[in-house]
Amino acid sequence: MITSRWNVENVDNLREHPSIQEAAMWMREGEVIAFPTETVYGLGANACSNEAIEKIFEAKGRPSDNPLIVHIANQDQLKQAASSWSHTAERLMDAFWPGPLTIILPKNKSIAERTTAGLESVGVRMPDHPVALALIEAAGVPIAAPSANRSGKPSPTKGDHVDKDLNGRIKGIIDAGTTGVGLESTVVEVTDDQVTILRPGGITKAQLESVVENVSWDHALFEKEQVPKSPGMKYTHYAPDAPLFLIEGSNDFFQSVIDRFRSEGKRVGILVSDELASHLSTDVLKTLGTSTRVEGIAQRLYDQLRAFDETEVDVILAEMYPIDGLGEALMNRLLKAAGNQVISEHKERD
Ligand code: TXA
Ligand code: MG
Repeated sequence: MITSRWNVENVDNLREHPSIQEAAMWMREGEVIAFPTETVYGLGANACSNEAIEKIFEAKGRPSDNPLIVHIANQDQLKQAASSWSHTAERLMDAFWPGPLTIILPKNKSIAERTTAGLESVGVRMPDHPVALALIEAAGVPIAAPSANRSGKPSPTKGDHVDKDLNGRIKGIIDAGTTGVGLESTVVEVTDDQVTILRPGGITKAQLESVVENVSWDHALFEKEQVPKSPGMKYTHYAPDAPLFLIEGSNDFFQSVIDRFRSEGKRVGILVSDELASHLSTDVLKTLGTSTRVEGIAQRLYDQLRAFDETEVDVILAEMYPIDGLGEALMNRLLKAAGNQVISEHKERD
């Protein structure tokens, strides 16, 4: 398949733009189109068609028990996607849509079975990106979209990332430059007045608590024995080719771990903030910006993880960040990318 590439960065009147019109036409025809959202690039198809959704799973190489998020652009499409929603869910929509919050709701029967992997619930979100909103509105149907990466790879934050993973496997890529948040949406389940976070993301726990009193984490996020409620959380994810370890401890300890790997003949890559970079020496250095701005670190994470695949490194060592604010999602993704492998100064001393 030849993959079209449309660049719509900085264009006005997106809704009428020929590229958006063409991409929306392909989606109505049951084809798969990659498009930017404010979090990461999505791989979209008509959420009401099993055949169209099948093409997403094929292109990604994704396990089919993993349900997709349905993206909407307006209230009409919400009614097409979900059969009902509580007062609490409505308060969350009012506060955070359009934005990086996915709400699990009872599914409308028009949503294809393959979209929700057979579940009676559906994850819905309204993305905060003019291109995504114009495209979904022009398509005229709810659009199911996982992140537009090959399964297991870091999510794409640039059109080039999508191109690298999926060129030849999908009908088209709409490129509008680098995405803003850089990490995926927060996924929540809502029961009565209780909100449970199934996946941390672009909307923080504190932000949710500013709207709803009772907000808690899905316990499975922290306890490995539990089966997570969000099926996607159990897979290895976001991983670069080389093994990744997170380093917990002082600057000197970090350097000693680098030196230990190098003494074994390994080429060592490090993924750190600007501040830590100035204290360390190694083979390949990738920085994520200042550690005083977690938003900047989050925005660059996937791009830099992917950049290691273009280098010759045998192992990657990464800095850890406080689990606070957007740091909740940042550390969740780093731990997953590392398969939970942490090298800790305190543990080594015991
Ligand atoms: O920011 C995002 O959310 C991006 C952009 C493209 O919108 N999308 C994304 O999709 O990250 P994906 O497919 O990579 O992740 C969807 C997550 C998975 O963890 C999945 O298990 C969960 O949402 N999910 C979807 N529907 C669900 C449902 N009905 N019940 C529980 N979890 C669900
Ligand atoms: Mg994904």
